[in-house]
Amino acid sequence: MYEQQSHSLLNAILNQIEPEFSKHDLRYFYTRLGANFYAIHSLFERLYGKRPDFAEQAQRLVETLARQYIDRSEELRAKDIEREQDYNWFLSQKWVGMALYCNGFAKNLQGMREHLHYFQDLGINLVHVMPIMKCPEGKSDGGYAVSNFREIDPRAGDLNDLRGLADDLRQRDMLLVMDVVLNHTSDQHEWAQKARDGYSPYREYFYTFENRHVPDMFEQSMPEVFPETAPGNFTWNKEMQRWVMTVFNDYQWDLNYSNPTVFIEMLDIILFWANQGADIVRLDAVAFLWKKIGSTCQNEREAHLILQLMKDCCQVTAPGVLFIAEAIVAPVEVTKYFGEDAVIAKECEIAYNATFMALLWDAVATKNARLLNQGIKSLPVKLERATWLNYIRCHDDIGLGFDDKDIELAGYEPRDHRRFLIDYFTGQYADSHARGVPFGQNDKTGDARISGSLASLVGLQYAVDIGDEQAIDDAIRIIVLLHSLILSFGGLPLLYYGDEIGTTNDESYRDDPVKMDDSRWVHRPFIDWQKAVQRNVPGTVEYLIFNQLKTLIAVHKELDAFADFNNRDLVEVDNPHLFVFERYHLQKPADRVLVIANFDKRSQRLDLDQLPRWSQSYQGHLVDAITGQSPEKFGNTVVVPRFGCYWLTEV
Ligand code: GLC
Ligand code: GLC
Repeated sequence: MYEQQSHSLLNAILNQIEPEFSKHDLRYFYTRLGANFYAIHSLFERLYGKRPDFAEQAQRLVETLARQYIDRSEELRAKDIEREQDYNWFLSQKWVGMALYCNGFAKNLQGMREHLHYFQDLGINLVHVMPIMKCPEGKSDGGYAVSNFREIDPRAGDLNDLRGLADDLRQRDMLLVMDVVLNHTSDQHEWAQKARDGYSPYREYFYTFENRHVPDMFEQSMPEVFPETAPGNFTWNKEMQRWVMTVFNDYQWDLNYSNPTVFIEMLDIILFWANQGADIVRLDAVAFLWKKIGSTCQNEREAHLILQLMKDCCQVTAPGVLFIAEAIVAPVEVTKYFGEDAVIAKECEIAYNATFMALLWDAVATKNARLLNQGIKSLPVKLERATWLNYIRCHDDIGLGFDDKDIELAGYEPRDHRRFLIDYFTGQYADSHARGVPFGQNDKTGDARISGSLASLVGLQYAVDIGDEQAIDDAIRIIVLLHSLILSFGGLPLLYYGDEIGTTNDESYRDDPVKMDDSRWVHRPFIDWQKAVQRNVPGTVEYLIFNQLKTLIAVHKELDAFADFNNRDLVEVDNPHLFVFERYHLQKPADRVLVIANFDKRSQRLDLDQLPRWSQSYQGHLVDAITGQSPEKFGNTVVVPRFGCYWLTEV
């Protein structure tokens, strides 16, 4: 868009731009800069316009974009153009991901390169490598306390290894996802060190206070992320004689985005990793980016403006690169991280669907889909050209992040129901085979969360320990059922490493002094490759899980109705154990899939007369795409096996 004020600023900036830039062919850069500059300027001005150095900062911003564009390889620039032409590329059902810790999966980056065939065997073509930037040996929050944003942690390898991995993946038509931890740095980061040494420009990178006045005001409305291990949101630093804002752990210093230098530094870092070959960048803890006294300091309007600005800037330099928002927040808040408009006010193309994740766990515990149905109904409709990241487990705990209102509508009392879920998954409930571990218990609020691997939470660990064949079978069925749902719901399915071979809890963290207080380590495994070989041995647990998931993934990729164009209708049925929805193809109405999931330990019936569209066509021609067989039926009633799932199609 052309607007005089921003355009004259842009001209002024380009007149002063460093002469070396003119040696390069910047044509594509300039067309994109021209297209986005009005938005970039408006957002930058809203955030930083009152500062006396505004024009200077705007100059630095544009130079940062240009410098990173110049550094972008021909190959990656060509990818950008390819993706501009095929802009819905990431909504395809072709992409199936896995998140992993590099050291837990294969020791280091070199090891990862040697295991790429494993992903391909399963059907994975998107790999999220959790943080591998340099971090301290001990206090690193699993890599989320970064001490150098431009170096690979030496334990994982170096930049060459990372580039090599990115190249290998690209050659196999696979995508690389990398973390950029935006909200904070490690207290060992150079910026924090300089702040401690008294360099005032670096003090401005963080929130520091000489006494408790301001921190106390903040505390009145800020919740605690890690109430047991890191209570409060500020930490006293002896060297500086100041309080530092540390929302997460006391060694994670929150960055101050009211300082444009911080914004530009972090944008530069995102673009740096884009240029190393990251196709998608996961932006960590984005809800926390803006701090305001009197608020929870989450989901603030300015946090959204910062993300919009980052997106607009990234589109100029590396438009093929997507953002994932990690915002584990209430359903009404989460869809805002897609932005307000897919073109003019976009934020992140992808967002964690933590609501769906938590609702799935509710259905596992209750063996019915009442809250799941209710919660999905309340999930706001998302933007076009935005997609969910659907997952069952990840490296973090499970928070029961659904609305109390929905719990009530599903017929439960919220406090009791949450208590039941915690008891259920920590195995304290009489009927439960789950072996989860509590996380983040907050005695002040009564809040609690759950750690534990998928296999241990669904009872596989228990069943194997006591050698109960029926219970083993049940647990495997639940594992497959949950995957069938993250694959069919619409969005990017993201498996968690180890789950594909039924990896159970790893208790060894209890002996490690830097891990013992953080139960999330119980589900951050080291893959035992000897055990993983069992996936080729028929009859083993590993075989049964791996091969069923492999089939699900392969079938998923063939069903065009599973691409995500907001093409899902929830179907209300009267059997509370069932979760039923329909996926359809926008251009080919006949391509429909009816997904039916049964969370109960007994077979359940679905009367197709409740679904007129499906009952008419039901002349024995329904086929479950997963098995290729007709579902078990009785008249017009479909029988769904215990913990079973169908993807019914018409043939
Ligand atoms: C993110 C990560 C989590 C980490 C937190 C603080 O939410 O997923 O593991 O503890 O950020 O960096
Ligand atoms: C909270 C935060 C999330 C973080 C998690 C770690 O849910 O919102 O960002 O990863 O805590 O437990």
